[in-house]
Amino acid sequence: MPYLLPEEMESHHYFFAVAILLLIALYLNDLCNERRCACRDIESVINVYSYDSFNGPQCWKQIFENANGKKQSPINVLYSMAQEVPTESVCPLSFSEEFHLSPKEMRIYNNSHNVVVYANWDCNKIPYITGGPLEEDYKFLNMRFRWGPTDHEGSEHMINSTRYSMELQIAFVKCSAIEEDLIIAARNGCLLMLSYLFMVTPIDNPYLEPIVTGLKFIRNPMSYLCIEPIILSLLIPDFSRDYYCYTGSLTFPPCTEGVLWIIKPEPLMISSKQIRQFRRINGCFGNIQNNTRPVQKLNNREVSYYV
Ligand SMILES: *[C@@H]1O[C@H](CO)[C@@H](O)[C@H](O)[C@H]1NC(C)=O
Ligand SMILES: *[C@@H]1O[C@H](CO)[C@@H](O)[C@H](O)[C@H]1NC(C)=O
Ligand SMILES: *[C@@H]1O[C@H](CO)[C@@H](O)[C@H](O)[C@H]1NC(C)=O
Repeated sequence: MPYLLPEEMESHHYFFAVAILLLIALYLNDLCNERRCACRDIESVINVYSYDSFNGPQCWKQIFENANGKKQSPINVLYSMAQEVPTESVCPLSFSEEFHLSPKEMRIYNNSHNVVVYANWDCNKIPYITGGPLEEDYKFLNMRFRWGPTDHEGSEHMINSTRYSMELQIAFVKCSAIEEDLIIAARNGCLLMLSYLFMVTPIDNPYLEPIVTGLKFIRNPMSYLCIEPIILSLLIPDFSRDYYCYTGSLTFPPCTEGVLWIIKPEPLMISSKQIRQFRRINGCFGNIQNNTRPVQKLNNREVSYYV
């Protein structure tokens, strides 16, 4: 085995040190150039977008063209700006009877950004909604939660400039849609997001318990758990009036537009203790404290209020 002469060893060290300094300098330079956004690596943002200063919402516009669109979500829903639609002028929004059936199976999944809930019913029954602003039937796909670092923030949508403690977004796709993938369905104009907001109360919401108690088993990304099935109509009470509707986008990359949003302003209840369990969930960069995108410009969009 050849021995290095002392001079050669020293020059080795020297080059090594210079190379490291150079890398550090390049890295710092990069940080400054990117205004603290590490958005250069497209793959890394697609796979590990986050809600921190690193790959967070302020970086998405640089990587995802859609995020620069004029119809982005979430928004601040202002009653004073909304167009009122009298209930008697349209078919009332209606939830199918399957909402009252217990699913055969329910799973919660940690996709490293939020908690997604999936459900299956016997005999391929699937809850669907129709009426109101909907031109056809939309069937249930899945639902996901949004939360923030404190009980004072956590919803993505704001109502009358107020943020709520949490938001539950339920994805529906047109029954006629060929593709059920969220991004493709959004692009094809087949996706509906129904949103409920949560307000903190001293008492636990019993209907959320199967999800909340399951969270500790899905702390690791890409982990899932089968939970005691929840009857959807108990968790998300149906309604036929008093809701907002507008056209927007997915609130997460690639921020695809063509999503119809229905927002129910009357909040549901959750306890502070229950929300805390959501904040213990881990993403690729540690606990997820905040998985909300800031509100986007309304531009010339119309927001309807179905009275
Ligand atoms: C928004 O403001 C309007 C008008 O002040 C009020 O009637 C409505 O209840 C408010 N909605 C919510 C959810 O705060
Ligand atoms: C999902 O897994 C990630 C990675 O371990 C973890 O940081 C996060 O807390 C988990 N989320 C939930 C909801 O358990
Ligand atoms: C959480 O995210 C929202 C929306 O991106 C942002 O406005 C808010 O400042 C964040 N909260 C904290 C404490 O970082």
